[in-house]
Amino acid sequence: MAVMVTGIGHAGSYVVRDLLAAGEKVVLFGLFGGPGGPDAPTPDLHVLKRIIGDDYADRTEIVVGDIRDLDALSDTMRTHGVTKAVHMASMLSAAVEANPPLAIQVNAVGTANVFEAAARLKLKKVVWASSMDVFGHGPAYAGQTISDESVYDPPYLYGATKVFNEYLARQYARNHGLSITGLRLSRIYGYGEHIKASRGSGTSWLSSLLYDPAIGNDVEVVVPFGARSMDFVYIEDVADACLKALAHTEPGSRDYLTLGEYRPIKDAYDFVRRVFPAAPVRLDENDAPLPPGSSMTWAVRHDGSRAAAEIGYAPRIRLEEGLLRTINANRADAGLPPVAAPNN
Ligand SMILES: NC(=O)c1ccc[n+]([C@@H]2O[C@H](COP(=O)([O-])OP(=O)(O)OC[C@H]3O[C@@H](n4cnc5c(N)ncnc54)[C@H](O)[C@@H]3O)[C@@H](O)[C@H]2O)c1
Repeated sequence: MAVMVTGIGHAGSYVVRDLLAAGEKVVLFGLFGGPGGPDAPTPDLHVLKRIIGDDYADRTEIVVGDIRDLDALSDTMRTHGVTKAVHMASMLSAAVEANPPLAIQVNAVGTANVFEAAARLKLKKVVWASSMDVFGHGPAYAGQTISDESVYDPPYLYGATKVFNEYLARQYARNHGLSITGLRLSRIYGYGEHIKASRGSGTSWLSSLLYDPAIGNDVEVVVPFGARSMDFVYIEDVADACLKALAHTEPGSRDYLTLGEYRPIKDAYDFVRRVFPAAPVRLDENDAPLPPGSSMTWAVRHDGSRAAAEIGYAPRIRLEEGLLRTINANRADAGLPPVAAPNN
């Protein structure tokens, strides 16, 4: 019996770590940030190594494969006795907008492949990464709180691929009796986010805010959206939600807003200023331009009560704690000692 994790990038690495800690046998399937192929680079494995330890390859089964390849995916599941899967492989927002034909292959066909393989092999559970972008931030939601019952209104193609996958999940659950959980993730932060900078993941100001001051880089970091609030979900909470969802094996498909803390963006800026008073960090009250395809759904308030009631997920890591853990992981990478939380 083993758990497969697909698309082991930023979030998947922490899921693998927690599955290993829970005593599971873990099979990793994905491109690991590379283009695929036998000799292709797999840069995401460097983050996995930092998160799990130097022996990461001895403790896991690593299969480089493309989620678009149904045969490779199901053969890997069969060979390794996979009974549950966490599906994270995806193209991210701006990359989807830049290449819709490929994005439909990776995000929609790739997810159909996971459900199809799960049906053929009678997997007990599939958990997969949806997004709060299924709801968007259109005028209908101005001043409103979005809940899991809100109406789909994806602002861009990325969210639309996730809406399609939510329908697909329900149909596969109906047709095959599968147990599927979609996690409608909000804006994830935490150590390792830098690996996504070139992958069309929206803005990178939060990653820079927790990296450059932390390692003493003398470059100005501008924090935009300073007049707004955002849902900050810490990466270790995302992994916790995945493991909680994996434990629910009743047939059917349900999707859950998976949130962190909704806080003013200025709070993150103020925290870093208190830890590193001399760092060249500046708050800009104005919004920054986003790459085409990236939404600001994170700026709308959401209600995560369904996840709390049905899968027992609620965020455990307060914003200041998540920021500090990220800063100190970045410092450890640079060979620097940890810093303490500032006194208020
Ligand atoms: N990061 C966020 O804030 C956020 C928010 C909402 C939802 N999500 C979702 O969470 C999941 C994980 O996101 P992440 O932030 O860890 O992104 P990531 O880019 O770090 O990880 C995605 C991984 O998928 C792999 N991949 C891409 N195409 C593939 C293919 N064709 N075959 C196999 N593997 C492929 C990449 O190489 C990478 O390792 C994604 O489904 C994403 O849409 C993320």
